[in-house]
Amino acid sequence: MRDKIVAGNWKMNNDLAQTEDLLSNIKKSYKKDQDVRVIVAPSFTNLHHAFESLRDSSIDVAAQNMNENSDGAYTGEVSASMLTSIGVKTVILGHSERRAIFKETDALLAKKVDAALENDMEVIFCCGEELNERKAEKHFDVVKSQLEKGIFHVSEGQWNKIVIAYEPVWAIGTGETASPEQAQEMHAFIRKTIAEKFGSELANNVAILYGGSVKPGNAQEIFAKEDVDGGLIGGASLKAEDFLAIVEAF
Ligand code: G3P
Repeated sequence: MRDKIVAGNWKMNNDLAQTEDLLSNIKKSYKKDQDVRVIVAPSFTNLHHAFESLRDSSIDVAAQNMNENSDGAYTGEVSASMLTSIGVKTVILGHSERRAIFKETDALLAKKVDAALENDMEVIFCCGEELNERKAEKHFDVVKSQLEKGIFHVSEGQWNKIVIAYEPVWAIGTGETASPEQAQEMHAFIRKTIAEKFGSELANNVAILYGGSVKPGNAQEIFAKEDVDGGLIGGASLKAEDFLAIVEAF
């Protein structure tokens, strides 16, 4: 049985006071549902505070990125062990903004995946096509290549630490959500692609999240799809009411 997960990617939002406000509003209204894992991913500067603030809740904390090296002269960077030392055991890797803005390549992401797994961290590995790639009907090729070059080098035994997030770039922050059918089609393709290399039993246990303009009004229909196991939420995760409405959409 695979996890149902709703993760809030706060991106570069919220200072310490805003983080505390958002967390206290989430904690105030959060009704724990045994079946749904809830994760919040604040910026680095607020991770430890978030971890401590949520220590007595069942809400997990994730980092939005990390460096592939264990330590050294990498000014401004954060390592896996720095994250685990403050209680953070999950990291988002390969987000389209890391790929597009910060030029993170498939090869670099593969190293980041290895560093995270070596530190016993859980990885939420992002994939997704650009609009022009979809229009050219190359979206399946693009996603398959991202998986093959970024995460398929891991061993079967490591897949229990891996969550996949499909985020069509053209749906991120645009209000242009993929239709439930489009999401299901790609999620089923991702699961099939994992099954072709690692077997269907393993593939059926991998949670595949959808990300890209998920809102309280569309979450239920998307989450109802067979191969959609939850969402990676951007904008809507910055309002406790909207984020929790999405959690309750299952
Ligand atoms: O990582 C989730 C994010 O990329 C989706 O953003 O604002 O479209 O929900 P948004």
